[in-house]
Amino acid sequence: MSGGNVLDRPALQELLIAEFDELTPENIMKPDLMQPERGVFDFSHSDALVDFATSSDTRVHGHALVFQAFSNPQMPEWMLNFQGTPDEWRAVLEEHIETIVSRYAGRIESWDVVNEILSDENGAIRPIVWQQGMGDDFIEASFRAAHRADPNADLYLNDYKFPDLPHKLDGAIEIVEDLLDRDVPIHGIGFQMHVLADFPKEDQIRLAFRRAAETGLLVKVTELDVRVNSGGGYQSLGDDLAVAQANQIRIVIEAYLDEVPPEQRGGITMWGISDPDSYLSGGPDWPLLFDDQLEAKPAYDAFREALG
Ligand code: XIL
Repeated sequence: MSGGNVLDRPALQELLIAEFDELTPENIMKPDLMQPERGVFDFSHSDALVDFATSSDTRVHGHALVFQAFSNPQMPEWMLNFQGTPDEWRAVLEEHIETIVSRYAGRIESWDVVNEILSDENGAIRPIVWQQGMGDDFIEASFRAAHRADPNADLYLNDYKFPDLPHKLDGAIEIVEDLLDRDVPIHGIGFQMHVLADFPKEDQIRLAFRRAAETGLLVKVTELDVRVNSGGGYQSLGDDLAVAQANQIRIVIEAYLDEVPPEQRGGITMWGISDPDSYLSGGPDWPLLFDDQLEAKPAYDAFREALG
């Protein structure tokens, strides 16, 4: 979620604890939780989240319609094991997307329609089950289905390491241009931006934002966090680490504002609120803007300052 206004943090914490228990909110719209059995959709958690956002004037970016993550795919077994003709795959894909997007039409303003479909090695389309079932057409079909279900939603291709791996951005731009040439409704490129404090470097970040903006599409930072302990050598966030983290946040935000024209900015979403919420915190690490007491860290101040 991106804050439309100042986020009501205590209310959000309360909701997270009451509604989601073990479920982290960033996971509840993934395929495994949304459609655990074929044709059986579970809207209980997503409704709670969207209701909360609506009542607190908070914008929602939906994550993610088509997503087969690597080790833990976060897809239901039935979908992973589905067998069928390309038309049968298409029917499954369209039902999944249209059922979810239409339910939240007008309330979820943008979606990660396809997430992590590009290979790290060469930027090619990954052989996920949709690709195996119906070929590369799954991409076009996904965007068209989402657009039918909510013609006003902004539809994104989302992926990680665009600054680090330029060939991945090449792959994304190739797909985007092909879709645009054929009038397929795609509106944005999402940059996950799970970065380290010292990598990627500023010039890589700037170049990647600039190249994405040159497509004319929206550019959004969808999952920002900054790891400071990827080597595992630290037991706590000392001042030096906090400053290094704040500097990287400043670099990312300033690069985004400098390289992406205002009318193309889809916004910036952090991948969690306080450090213990983060999926990276186990290392241990402290990748977010607020600490375990929900106190703002130097990274938060850097974020605010960079926004001007
Ligand atoms: C992560 C969640 O944050 C974790 O709770 C879960 O165990 C694994 O997935 N890129 C994505 C997200 O697009 O869906 C991932 O979220 C983080 C990396």
